[in-house]
Amino acid sequence: MQTKPDYGVDAPGVMLTFFLLGFACLLLAAFAPHTIHLGSVKIETRTFFWPAGFLIGEGLLFLLYVKFGKFRHRDFMLGMHEWQGDERVLDVGCGRGLLLAGAAKKIAEHRGTGHATGIDIWSNTDMAANSAAATERNLELEGISQICTLVSEPAQEMPFESESFHLVVSNLCLHNIYDRPTRRQAIEQISRVLKPGGMAILSDYKLTGEYAEQLTRMGFAVEKRRGSFITTFPPLTVVLARKPQ
Ligand SMILES: C[S@@+](CC[C@H](N)C(=O)[O-])C[C@H]1O[C@@H](n2cnc3c(N)ncnc32)[C@H](O)[C@@H]1O
Repeated sequence: MQTKPDYGVDAPGVMLTFFLLGFACLLLAAFAPHTIHLGSVKIETRTFFWPAGFLIGEGLLFLLYVKFGKFRHRDFMLGMHEWQGDERVLDVGCGRGLLLAGAAKKIAEHRGTGHATGIDIWSNTDMAANSAAATERNLELEGISQICTLVSEPAQEMPFESESFHLVVSNLCLHNIYDRPTRRQAIEQISRVLKPGGMAILSDYKLTGEYAEQLTRMGFAVEKRRGSFITTFPPLTVVLARKPQ
């Protein structure tokens, strides 16, 4: 029986690939004959220590993010808003509830009437053991499930009323929407559901320029901030965008 919240491993296949390829290179470099001939190609196996170090290093940085960095990054993101406690917050691609629970705890700390909603399609490629049930369990263990709602829909087809959230947050979700028109649709949805004067705090490891550009064209006041280069892997950038009044 799970007794502590578990916010899961992001992109588990990517981390596994770093470690598997890294250790394969390490074994080759350490135990294979120093020189291998593949037809006319001569391979010096000791040189494989370099990719081994690089890949295992990347895997370890990823592990550091999953175990420690993501909580620091959550605090960095949620610290960009001045909490009152009455906010209606939406976490887009909430996964196992990292930002969702963080936002709900901020509301609870202020003893406010706010509410936090998470929307996700529960992809197990993007997050290990991802499901509404796993997230619900985390929210219960955090003691904030009564002020949270989970919605199982894609970000590009949000079922919420227009102008219903003060704050929209999202971490490492939008790049998973692979085609540009659908990503644009997701950003349009974020804009639609935000109240005038509301704020979007969108974090990702790529495509943040695209999000910033689209939001700027929609009239948002946009700023970009970088997450830590050591504890976020891949390094994350946050787009902070205020909807016009
Ligand atoms: C890497 S996880 C990050 C989860 C969470 N935001 C966090 O930081 O721990 C990406 C999440 O985005 C979700 N996702 C991917 N595409 C989505 C879409 N089109 N609509 C909603 N959620 C999506 C995945 O199911 C997954 O939970």
